[in-house]
Amino acid sequence: MDLRRTKTVEQSIRDTEEPGHRLRRALSALDLTVFGVGVIVGTGIFVLTGQVAREKAGPAVALSFIFAAVVCGLAALCYAEFASTVPVAGSAYTFSYATLGEFPAWIIGWDLILEMALGAAVVAVGWSGYFASLLDDVGITVPDSIAAPPGDGGTVNVPAIGLVVAVTALLVLGIKVSSRVNAIVVTIKIAVVLLVIVAGLFFVKGANYHPFIPPSKPTPSEGGLGAPLMQVLFGITPASFGWLGIFAAIAIVFFAYIGFDIVATAAEEARRPQRDIPIGLIGSLVITAVLYAAVSTVVAGMQNYKDLSTEAPLADAFKAVGHPAFATIIDVGAVAGLITVVLILLLGQSRIFFAMGRDGLMPPWLSAVHPRFGTPYRSTILMGTIVAVLAGFIPLAKLAELVNIGTLFAFLVVSVAVVILRRTRPDLPRSFRTPWVPLIPALSVLGCLFVMINLPVETWLRFAAWLVIGVVVYAAYGYRRSRVGAVRNP
Ligand code: ALA
Repeated sequence: MDLRRTKTVEQSIRDTEEPGHRLRRALSALDLTVFGVGVIVGTGIFVLTGQVAREKAGPAVALSFIFAAVVCGLAALCYAEFASTVPVAGSAYTFSYATLGEFPAWIIGWDLILEMALGAAVVAVGWSGYFASLLDDVGITVPDSIAAPPGDGGTVNVPAIGLVVAVTALLVLGIKVSSRVNAIVVTIKIAVVLLVIVAGLFFVKGANYHPFIPPSKPTPSEGGLGAPLMQVLFGITPASFGWLGIFAAIAIVFFAYIGFDIVATAAEEARRPQRDIPIGLIGSLVITAVLYAAVSTVVAGMQNYKDLSTEAPLADAFKAVGHPAFATIIDVGAVAGLITVVLILLLGQSRIFFAMGRDGLMPPWLSAVHPRFGTPYRSTILMGTIVAVLAGFIPLAKLAELVNIGTLFAFLVVSVAVVILRRTRPDLPRSFRTPWVPLIPALSVLGCLFVMINLPVETWLRFAAWLVIGVVVYAAYGYRRSRVGAVRNP
């Protein structure tokens, strides 16, 4: 079995020119940055800030956000070089195909389903929670039976399904329509975040920052599969607060940055991918890191970290200082803002399926482009259906960490692949070059590994099981049907 057959970079680029499989090049650097911010700012900042400050980092929660941004930034520098060298839909999947070979590429494509499809389902469920509480504010109560899946006290999560169906329809209608809708929502979302920062500043009390880094204490030991892998491997007991707590929190707040890499999946739809993709990737990451650090610092200054809410910390901080009207505005922003997160995660997922279908690793009919709308409508509708079912019927809370591990794994592989492609194809034009290769990719790999070993053993086991299923699917379908394979062994 030839598991390392690669698809050349030239072949990947030629494939994008095939009639009937060509995507429309409509996005500018600004569109891409807005796309990035649109997918990044979501449940991470709107929900996790409170939980992390209370349990792990205290008022210094901004430091966890900054460290997580550094890990993502190192990976972003690697993604930027790839996207500028191989400006083809499919991101990490396509990059791996060009360097590591077909089997690793398949595994990455399979792995990215965790980031994008599962991530979209998780955020859709988070959205339905905000949506229900907003309706509650205006006196409409949504019964749990139609707002939660079986196992979580309901029968079906209708709002989550409704959101996924609506977003799927938008994506089928065309990327330019989607990016316009996205721009409006991103504006609302950023305005709300800025409102929290500026209005919140008036309510900050210096006393809430003392101590800024509360003294470290061991967390009650998580036995068995709930323990972080780090504890099992090295016997390091997880800690709350202190520097160890701040570091441990990175694995949780990492979720808040998920999505910036999806800018790279739109490489084939960018007008000038070589220049615009690196700007979109790094620009959106820098903007969100600054916003997150500011928001989390302000919120931790408004209330003692022990009192922050774990469900809606931003809105509840304003309620706590006696301004519920601000809280309603923030809820509206979150409801609007989470829509684009789902939208773009699904967009990324459909583009990966599109690329895999074009390569024959998934059924090729998936990669047909709609004659009128110019979008890969079949892969979009298929993914939308799967995500709607997941969000509507499966209790997902426990699966959120799978999204993180899947994403970190892709970052790790892309970082390694940059170094390999420099060796195997030094001749390729690279309009963006990752600085200090191999140092930056090596640091990126170490950063990802560090965050990964902070995740629980059960997350690792689920991740391994998912990859095993992927190997079986590849052996049964992709290996035989691969177009690259067909050229090699006609
Ligand atoms: N980064 C996205 C969020 O926080 C996935 O919702």
